[in-house]
Amino acid sequence: MKIAFFAGDGIGPEIMTEARKVLDALALPGVEALEADVGGAGYKKHGHPLPPETLEIAKAADAILFGAVGDPDCDNLERHLRPEQAILGLRAALGLFANLRPATMFPGLEDMSALRPEVARAIDILIVRELNGDVYFGEKAIRTLDNGLRQGFDFMSYDENEVRRIAHVAFRAAQGRKKRLTSVDKANVLETSQLWRDVVIEVAAEYPDVTLNHMYVDNAAMQLVRDPGQFDVVVTGNLFGDILSDQASMCVGSIGLLASASLGEDQTEYGTKGMYEPIHGSAPDIAGQGKANPMAMILSLAMMLRHSFGREEDAQRIEKAVSAALADGVLGADLGGSASTREVGDAVVNRL
Ligand code: NAD
Ligand code: IPM
Ligand code: MN
Repeated sequence: MKIAFFAGDGIGPEIMTEARKVLDALALPGVEALEADVGGAGYKKHGHPLPPETLEIAKAADAILFGAVGDPDCDNLERHLRPEQAILGLRAALGLFANLRPATMFPGLEDMSALRPEVARAIDILIVRELNGDVYFGEKAIRTLDNGLRQGFDFMSYDENEVRRIAHVAFRAAQGRKKRLTSVDKANVLETSQLWRDVVIEVAAEYPDVTLNHMYVDNAAMQLVRDPGQFDVVVTGNLFGDILSDQASMCVGSIGLLASASLGEDQTEYGTKGMYEPIHGSAPDIAGQGKANPMAMILSLAMMLRHSFGREEDAQRIEKAVSAALADGVLGADLGGSASTREVGDAVVNRL
């Protein structure tokens, strides 16, 4: 198990320390740890957010555990030098097009949701976010028009193969769950979304056992807080998925709880090279204060053991330990408690 640990910036190193403690406590055989600089840390040490040696290590690894990147010192650099390019670059270079972002209520945490407890209780959603396309990866620039005005633009597009492959991932995921799939788009306005919807409908013919519905993204944002229990699997594009998953995190209770897996073409149930990371960022506002919730990072480790190494039992051990810690009231500041990053990590280790 060759694992690359990319801690990154801000709270990245703090939460990575806790995830590694959990992995060490499992004492799995054959773990080989690789480490490298990414993000602002990569830029400051090597002049690039994704230094060539970091990319080489990512390619050599069986799986990557990624902390977070983003550094206010770097916000005015040219775009290709900014920390965020590390994560976008890794997703592109490794072909990680399928981003799984589960949002599930933890027993006992209903009162911490931004929603009413009786509404929050039913949350069990898997957001399947396309990760290699959309407006993220189209041509973009700020240019000066003939009339002297500055104009910013970002080209949004999906080709049918890109939509088809993420649709298959989502339908297969739905088959393993409650067999309901909601495709979220903006087909009433965007041609990109019209093609998305057409292709999702074509793919649906291969999955007659899955019930498909379509929702415009504005309505989906509303439905997510009105009645999140209606969703099973949600499939959507890169930008909408980014936004809806942060929103879903507060329905569960904190952005410090949501993990993710980013998988590529070779994905099967396991054996795939994947990258695993919390959905949140580097949280510069709380970095270095021991306030970050490491649970999203720890749950990302569980997803790694499941998807890249086929270690379902170990994944569940971690998930149950996190759930037990929450049920026992081990809560950080993000959940209204006072447990530090390290105390939360220790509490998970103690419950493995
Ligand atoms: P953020 O997710 O870093 O933080 C948003 C808010 O949530 C902050 O108040 C933060 O303190 C809080 N928060 C986030 N994670 C938390 C945790 N584990 N425990 C407790 N509180 C937590 O988003 P932002 O502030 O918009 O962005 C900060 C930087 O991170 C930016 O540079 C951004 O580009 C970057 N970013 C990186 C990633 C990534 O590496 N995958 C994801 C999102 C944002
Ligand atoms: C995420 C982040 C990234 C994204 C940024 C940092 C590029 O917000 O992983 O959700 O937008 O995908
Ligand atoms: Mn995001």
